[in-house]
Amino acid sequence: MTLRGTIALHPAHRVGPVRRRTFGSFVEHMARCVYTGIVEPDHPSADADGLRTDVLALVRELGVTSVRYPGGNFVSGHRWEDGVGPVEDRPRRHDLAWHSTEPNTFGLDEFMTWASKAGVEPMYAVNLGTRGMQEALDVLEYANAPVGTELSDRRAAHGHPEPYGIRMWCLGNEMDGPWQIGHRPAEVYGRIAAETARAMRLEDEDLELVVCGSSFPSMPTFGAWEQAVLEAGYDDVDMISAHIYYREEDGDQASYLAVAEDLDAYVEAVAATADHVRTLRRSEKRLMISVDEWNVSGNGHGDPGAPPHGDDWPIAPRFAESTYTAQDAVVVGSLLISLLRHTDRVASASQAQLVNVLAPIRTTPGGPAWRQTIFHPFALTSRHARGQVLRCAIESPTYENRRFGTSSALDAVSTWDPERGELTVFAVNRSAAEELVLEVPLAAFEVAGARRADGEEAGFVLLEAVVLHEADPYAVNTAEDPDRVLPRPLEGVSVTVDALCGSTLTAALPPISWAMLRLRRST
Ligand code: AHR
Repeated sequence: MTLRGTIALHPAHRVGPVRRRTFGSFVEHMARCVYTGIVEPDHPSADADGLRTDVLALVRELGVTSVRYPGGNFVSGHRWEDGVGPVEDRPRRHDLAWHSTEPNTFGLDEFMTWASKAGVEPMYAVNLGTRGMQEALDVLEYANAPVGTELSDRRAAHGHPEPYGIRMWCLGNEMDGPWQIGHRPAEVYGRIAAETARAMRLEDEDLELVVCGSSFPSMPTFGAWEQAVLEAGYDDVDMISAHIYYREEDGDQASYLAVAEDLDAYVEAVAATADHVRTLRRSEKRLMISVDEWNVSGNGHGDPGAPPHGDDWPIAPRFAESTYTAQDAVVVGSLLISLLRHTDRVASASQAQLVNVLAPIRTTPGGPAWRQTIFHPFALTSRHARGQVLRCAIESPTYENRRFGTSSALDAVSTWDPERGELTVFAVNRSAAEELVLEVPLAAFEVAGARRADGEEAGFVLLEAVVLHEADPYAVNTAEDPDRVLPRPLEGVSVTVDALCGSTLTAALPPISWAMLRLRRST
């Protein structure tokens, strides 16, 4: 059976601008994300700074716009000063979050060098676990103050006279999680975060500050934590964080394919809580959301490696190296659809993480770097989501699943760039067995009465149609076969013109697929 779905669009029905920060990522000192991920001085591709240029090239191709650093759970035990200054003087320490040894040969200055080469905006997290306001102020002074103070002069002495001008700062990480070093009750954390935010703004008033929301929506603290933390410091911060990871649980593929519904509900719940506090405080400000950890976490394809324990405290151990499937890539595409759909509330997002750890890019120490399946929808969405996000009224058949009851088989978002006359539709077919024929009427975009020189009605030309779909949804990319799963041209896409109804885009999406359709208005 073939399913049929439609998307109704209008250029005036906008959610908001596509935000470049939606396409952020995350580099944590965890497992092999930093060491043998982005830096490996002995690697054949390493540059003079020891950075893997093969990875840098893939990061640029991925279209990553901002990168959160240095954690994650790692940050809650991290002393930022350990990672600056002459490398030979830097201490080795136990990283208690990941039971590893941190050599500190890569720190803030190296990260900023890497960020500049990668062309990404930095987002820096301060330690509010074992440390507090003073250390947050210190690292801010080191990073952003013009020379002339003790810590900015230290930065200059380390070879970086110009302030880094880091704008986005996270006030700790997942502070309601019992696993977090120094986790605290909401009222206590809320107060520390608000005081730290106020003090940081005295140093640099243009900062954009992110307070920790609950670690995950499944936390018993979810909702109450956000309310308490925001009641303590609503006017002191700009964003509240949200973290979420999804995977196929117990073979429940049907629910997994629909998890963007959960992300929709999660973002809307955080926004509702923030708006409630706004009402209580009679505040003018509308708080935004930083989804600064999101991804699929994979479910056991390949050997992800196990975290170290006991007397073993290795440097950069191999664990959390999920090998992603074609189906995971379809879900990542759908999560990006959800993030774009909420561009009016999600001001920043970071896929977690960038290299090796739950990552779109994998490396072998001394060997190649390659694109995992989830690389592709991210790269294409980052490259082609431009202009304004449009509201999509979707009509679609539904299917039953355990987690959500009834879900739409079709999900989609569209972006419209009026200057270039370009319309892009990102769509998923969640049906596991059925092809879905998608129709998008385009008359609302066509200039009434406009005619081309040949007398034809003004319409759209198809620029590109690609699909990510595999007959085996569990197909993966590996070092030996890095391009097994790729986006491919979607055949049979048409833009038909009807004198009365205008143009219509029609495309047949195979089962379990993510597709991108790009059009340009031909006038
Ligand atoms: O991204 C891996 C870990 O997941 C992060 O360190 C932590 O913040 C989250 O729980």
